[in-house]
Amino acid sequence: MSGRKARIVVLGGDGIGPEVTAEAVRVLEAVAQRFGHQFIFESHLIGGIAIDETGSALPSQTVSACGTADAVLLGAVGGPKWSDPNAKVRPEQGLLAIRKALNLFANLRPVTVYPALLDASTIKPEVLRGTDIVVVRELTGGIYFGEKQRTAESASDLCTYTVAEIQRVARVAGKLARARRKSLVSIDKANVLETSRLWRSTVEDVIRKEFSDVKLEHMLVDAAAMHLIRRPASFDVMVTENMFGDILTDEASMLAGSLGMLPSASLGSGTLGLYEPIHGSAPDIAGKGIANPYGTILSAALLLRHSLGLEEEAQAVENAVAGAVSERIFTADIASAGASVSTRTAGDAVVNRLL
Ligand code: IPM
Ligand code: MN
Repeated sequence: MSGRKARIVVLGGDGIGPEVTAEAVRVLEAVAQRFGHQFIFESHLIGGIAIDETGSALPSQTVSACGTADAVLLGAVGGPKWSDPNAKVRPEQGLLAIRKALNLFANLRPVTVYPALLDASTIKPEVLRGTDIVVVRELTGGIYFGEKQRTAESASDLCTYTVAEIQRVARVAGKLARARRKSLVSIDKANVLETSRLWRSTVEDVIRKEFSDVKLEHMLVDAAAMHLIRRPASFDVMVTENMFGDILTDEASMLAGSLGMLPSASLGSGTLGLYEPIHGSAPDIAGKGIANPYGTILSAALLLRHSLGLEEEAQAVENAVAGAVSERIFTADIASAGASVSTRTAGDAVVNRLL
């Protein structure tokens, strides 16, 4: 067996971040052991803890470590300690800045509905059955990164997109749709926003010219929010701009039963990627050892697939999570009325299925 060497930077961050990344690291170590790879882990600061220790939400050391790594695994950033609206630095700036610094413009957020979790969702099982979606969220443009202004009487956030920014993320979505069920829904607000009209015509062009085998439909974001819970199983790949993607994926996580179940992969033009659960730092349960580690462990599976090219290993991790879930090894967020296990026990359930 020819083992793969990889350097993985771990950014635990704040709140439950370090607890969930610890489980994902244990899972990656189990993968290395079982498949004969050598993964080297290196921890760095980001977010509130980085502000406390260095004054910056993203120390330059972290940026250079990530820039030369094979992949980055991230927990979460933020918390009440740093959320004073008048604060000069915020933990979230660190996350936005690392996405931008590494040019990770495409954020893949798969939404998988596990049979054992049909009852954990607030949506009816017969509506959920068969749901299997990937949302491709543009990650380094739009209103998140436009010029901001603030006076005593007003504030503004500029939303800008260039044709090139839309084309590159449309290509990621087109490729993904081609490898799946060949159906792509592009989401915008073209009845109101100029950026959305550019989005719509650019996506239309790219898909028609380069992915003519993919069926493309455009949908307004308000309607998409409704259809996502009305007929989730009808969606395959969805592509949308930064803020719409942020909002729709929190909504979509309820299809899976919990925000704690959803992983994500932030990709650029090379193999370097950043992998993180879509949930936040959950300060209310931080330090209690009860957070759901599956979203982060599934992010580690995406890391194996997209940055290291280890498809079999990625599937082994996904199967191990599916196995643990099917045996109802549930943390509190998905346990509803039943018994729940700790973060560590859920991590163990995945590790044990790999060794
Ligand atoms: C996410 C988060 C971030 C975002 C925050 C923490 C800046 O909500 O990754 O979805 O809005 O992108
Ligand atoms: Mn979000």
